[in-house]
Amino acid sequence: MDNVHLISHPVLQHSLTLLRDKRTGIEEFRRHAAIVAQIVLLEATRDLPVSKKSVRTPLASCPGEQLKEDLVLVPVLRAGLAMLGPALEILPRTPVGFIGLERDERTALARAYYQKFPTDLKNKRVIVLDPMLATGGSLIDTLARLRDRGARDICAACIVIAPEGVRALQKHYPEVAIHTAALDSHLNEAKYIVPGLGDFGDRYFGT
Ligand code: PRP
Ligand code: URA
Repeated sequence: MDNVHLISHPVLQHSLTLLRDKRTGIEEFRRHAAIVAQIVLLEATRDLPVSKKSVRTPLASCPGEQLKEDLVLVPVLRAGLAMLGPALEILPRTPVGFIGLERDERTALARAYYQKFPTDLKNKRVIVLDPMLATGGSLIDTLARLRDRGARDICAACIVIAPEGVRALQKHYPEVAIHTAALDSHLNEAKYIVPGLGDFGDRYFGT
């Protein structure tokens, strides 16, 4: 699965295990979701362009670097909101677009209910934030909408993904990289990821 960047870090594995544990309550779930999201975001932004910037320390001048401001974050509502706060802590100037999608619990098909993107997406790196990639329907729909608005350089930051979703993405958007904490075994009949962590949105928002 060429387009999958599986992230390995002991802090990430520790927090991911707590997210998976069905006994983990909402407070701990939120805390560890933030830790995992931040580590995934750091990896997803590893190759962001920088420009040279020299600064004066209290002792001398020193060569440095600053991020070029050409990034946009797009959380997929609702669950993607769990990754937005942690992302903005490390990238506080980044514009944010929103897409609201909900899977029908019977058909597992995504339905869009909201969309608002920054005007210029053409020359930006867009990172889609969605903790779960199951069938891939939600991400494929999001990518189609971003492409319609001119976005070309897009990747996804996830927490748990399924091979079925990766294959669907490879078919439609083979150039889109997925950064993730885990690539799980399969989907069950209800299209939930196994072993997964259950319904991320419900666990994070307490519904
Ligand atoms: C979840 C998740 C993804 C989608 C993944 O959202 O956050 O957006 O399912 O499934 P897919 O790959 O099969 O499309 P859900 O529809 O449960 O909505 P929520 O974020 O409001 O909980
Ligand atoms: N969405 C979730 O929250 N969990 C899954 O396992 C699949 C889709």
